[in-house]
Amino acid sequence: MESNTPILTLGVSLDSRSYPILIGSGLLRQAAAHITSLQPSQVAVVTHPRLAQWYAEPVGAVLAQQGIPVHLLTVPPGERTKRWEVVGRLLRQMAQRALDRRCVVLAIGGGVIGDLAGFVAACYLRGVRYVQVPTTLLAQVDSSVGGKTGVNLPEGKNLVGAFYQPSLVLIDTDTLKTLPIRHFRAGLAEILKYGIIADESLWQLVHDEAHWLRHGSSAHLADIIHRCCEIKAKIVSEDETEQGVRAILNFGHTLGHALEAVSSYGRLLHGEAVAIGMVFATLLGELQGITPQGSAEQMTSALRALGLSVALPLGVSHEELLAVMARDKKARGGHLRFVLIERIGQARLPMVVNEKEVIHALQVHRERFGRAST
Ligand code: NAD
Ligand code: GLY
Repeated sequence: MESNTPILTLGVSLDSRSYPILIGSGLLRQAAAHITSLQPSQVAVVTHPRLAQWYAEPVGAVLAQQGIPVHLLTVPPGERTKRWEVVGRLLRQMAQRALDRRCVVLAIGGGVIGDLAGFVAACYLRGVRYVQVPTTLLAQVDSSVGGKTGVNLPEGKNLVGAFYQPSLVLIDTDTLKTLPIRHFRAGLAEILKYGIIADESLWQLVHDEAHWLRHGSSAHLADIIHRCCEIKAKIVSEDETEQGVRAILNFGHTLGHALEAVSSYGRLLHGEAVAIGMVFATLLGELQGITPQGSAEQMTSALRALGLSVALPLGVSHEELLAVMARDKKARGGHLRFVLIERIGQARLPMVVNEKEVIHALQVHRERFGRAST
């Protein structure tokens, strides 16, 4: 298992469900060896057609040389692929190929592939192992770690799913070289989120590196990915099923998920929706007297410097957003709940905010940050 650059390793500690996260350049070249060490009977690779050609086929070829049968299962790119019907299709393809309990599902792609393939692994034969090979920045810092798997319903984001941990996460930072810049920037929103909720020095580093990050590179990128995974691994190790502290990872997601749902999962990328949602939650915190005044402005400047917009999309009604937010997993008995921040670097657990205050904050958001400028 050779590599040119050091491989950073950390772990998620969950008793028998613990697993390592490996981060480095060129890691895909070692992927087959890591997967073989799991002694799979067969490997089902779930990916998109383009990623199959670039990343999955080379790994599959090495596995096949070692005598491990490999089944390539491709699905179209895009958030709309993360749906119930696609789960059924993949499960049937696995059954038709007689994949057994010792098989491994290999998810190669962004958060859509990871969430979908992880859920398929959780359901197939009541649970088979899976490995995450995240190839978007967002998936490398967030979705590949922590075992939240699932799909969307037309009624709301991620309304079907399971907490189901992978056996291994392999993060090859070289895959980001082919990632379109819009998707790279969407990942930056989740990176900034970690700084805002838990680590002011990470916020500062992202701020200092904004010019480079905005254009898709930074000498500190591997370190930044490592720091995000470290924060997430620690939180997940403490609270796997979101009974408490894990909820702070949903900062910006109450409105973010609603924006994705009302735009029929396509117009806004997940990270773009979260960027808007983070500014909104900060504004809400300011209006509630919890967050220091000026924090939403500060966050807006940081997000714009990273090439992200914070404006609420035109043509989306507040009533529509409210209805979707009430169905969100984070809502309780129809009451809207938001993660707010006490300051940059410190989040607090979700709290109920009444509808009138949410509508008022949406109006203020439109007035202050309405211009779709980046
Ligand atoms: P995505 O998976 O849709 O990937 C974005 C696009 O980039 C796709 O078109 C994909 O084909 C392409 N792509 C992926 N890797 C590439 C590469 N290396 N080179 C070129 N193109 C590449 O989007 P995403 O932002 O990675 O993930 C968003 C999803 O993640 C959402 O569904 C969100 O709900 C979910 N998510 C889950 C968690 C979790 O904890 N499970 C956390 C955050 C987000
Ligand atoms: N992205 C939220 C979580 O993993 O809990």
